Amino acid sequence: MLRISEDQVKETLSVKKAISTIEDAYRDNVAGTFYSGDRIFMPVNGKENVGQWLVANTETQPHFGSKFSAVFPGNRSKGLPSVISTISLYSRETGVLEALIDANYLTAIKTGSNAGVATNLYARKNAHVLGIIGTGLQAYSQILAIQEVREIKKLIVSDIDKDRVKEFIGMIEKVKNTDYEIVEAKSNDELVKESDIICTCTTAHTPVFDGNNIKPGTHINAIGSFTSFMQEIDSTTVKRANKIVTEHMDGL
Ligand SMILES: NC(=O)c1ccc[n+]([C@@H]2O[C@H](COP(=O)([O-])OP(=O)(O)OC[C@H]3O[C@@H](n4cnc5c(N)ncnc54)[C@H](O)[C@@H]3O)[C@@H](O)[C@H]2O)c1
Repeated sequence: MLRISEDQVKETLSVKKAISTIEDAYRDNVAGTFYSGDRIFMPVNGKENVGQWLVANTETQPHFGSKFSAVFPGNRSKGLPSVISTISLYSRETGVLEALIDANYLTAIKTGSNAGVATNLYARKNAHVLGIIGTGLQAYSQILAIQEVREIKKLIVSDIDKDRVKEFIGMIEKVKNTDYEIVEAKSNDELVKESDIICTCTTAHTPVFDGNNIKPGTHINAIGSFTSFMQEIDSTTVKRANKIVTEHMDGL
């Protein structure tokens, strides 16, 4: 059995490759050769911590697999990631476990690349101002992917943890693909007023901005919430939207 570490994933998986792989997976889904069941959630030690399982099987690939993610928001204060994910891959011929993959970076690149696919399809071609709310690994990967599909001229960053914003901007300065400007927002709402593309990548339990502040024609990737008690987007935003797109209805 192969054991693939975070570092090995980082060395081999480019964002471009992830975006095209995800496009293929969506095509397989439309063609009916792709199976992914509903995700299973399990509360652990109260309702903040969650274990979740996802499965996927594409007839066009030699393996099928599952991903387990432990979501422990309090881990950050312990110096650990708030989400820890591992993927198991099984042989399509025999069902034998053939690989275990550390999947924190892979999950982030996958989530970011999904937003890259969505942004490429739905954002205006002249969307140049990207606003990112949240400064964790997911926020990082959203930027890596979106800068591949739109010409970013300005990046605006916001987080309730102001120390994290400065460190995050330093990280993005090293990986930005053109010489775009990066600024810290005064608030989430100030960011929203100026952005053509908005990504919410937080662990928030209440809306992170007022939907009245969104400019017409803005594209939003809302990726942080994954349980019924989490929320990033308010009802005003939902009512103002002319299109809401999801690959899973229960994801709404
Ligand atoms: N959609 C998906 O496929 C997918 C995949 C993986 C993770 N996630 C989810 O994405 C979220 C972010 O993941 P992460 O690993 O980057 O987490 P993280 O904990 O490292 O970062 C979240 C950031 O959000 C900030 N934040 C919280 N509330 C805020 C608010 N109201 N305004 C501004 N900033 C706020 C926090 O200060 C923190 O810096 C998590 O909820 C995670 O479970 C979604």
